[in-house]
Amino acid sequence: MQKLPSKIFIDGGLPQETKKASGSMLASFGYPLDGQTTNPTLIARNLAAKQALPHQDFAGRGGEKLTEAQALEEYKRIVVEMSAVIPAGSVSIQVTATEKTTSGEMLEQARDRNKWIPNASIKFPATLTGLAAAGKACREMPINITLVFSQNQAAAVYEVTRGAKYPIFISPFVGRLDDIGQNGMHVVKNILKMFQNGDGHVEVLTASVRNLDHILYALQLKSEIITIPFKVFQLWAEENFRIPDENYAYEKPELEVIPYKPEIQLGRNWEEYDLSHGLTERGLAAFYKDWTSLF
Ligand code: G3P
Repeated sequence: MQKLPSKIFIDGGLPQETKKASGSMLASFGYPLDGQTTNPTLIARNLAAKQALPHQDFAGRGGEKLTEAQALEEYKRIVVEMSAVIPAGSVSIQVTATEKTTSGEMLEQARDRNKWIPNASIKFPATLTGLAAAGKACREMPINITLVFSQNQAAAVYEVTRGAKYPIFISPFVGRLDDIGQNGMHVVKNILKMFQNGDGHVEVLTASVRNLDHILYALQLKSEIITIPFKVFQLWAEENFRIPDENYAYEKPELEVIPYKPEIQLGRNWEEYDLSHGLTERGLAAFYKDWTSLF
């Protein structure tokens, strides 16, 4: 059986999807799913669906709000279940933050969530406070930097995690760039190119995957990891987990090119890179809004 050039994760909030996807990976490749990513929106969606059900053994049933502690208990219960399905894999758990959350507060959340399961990877946003927290956390636990939309943000992630003791993932969100008319896969390509001059301590995790072409191009680029929503994973499974041949070309003339910027080089102090990106700010606010809508 073949081995894929990228590790495959499922992006979602439902452990039954983890189970199904891992089963089909095992059947087709002889090895299980490599990991799982979650985020506050995906978890909130799962819990909100339960709130809508009147007769269920769940604190917020019948549309009742949960308390924040109950919502966190549910988040934990979900990732514990996912972790049990893929004990040798990695399960990303995100901190819940606004632009006002301090790096100390994020670190505190991270330390707590890292205790939930033995195979956690804690997600921090690619903001100034997020990366300050991540720089400390990476000496204590595996981490994943989320809401990444630029080469500059990736350079900062690389520098702030230099010398880390645990695996570091960086998650460029390709679909959300496509949504605003820019070629999101170019950010993956540019980060991989920039990291060729590095020591390999950061793995590029292609995220916000919306279609089969995202998967195929990420495989062709040899993105270390691809996280795939279950529906898109199913489409890929229906195509017998097609992999791109040498003639495969990812051509999206309708999307604006995001050029590689040779002037953005590794080797500077992480705080010198321009971290600002409208989609990072917007994404952080949306994650928080979705999460807090539960309580
Ligand atoms: O896990 C985060 C990510 O994959 C988000 O995807 O579709 O909300 O942009 P999406």
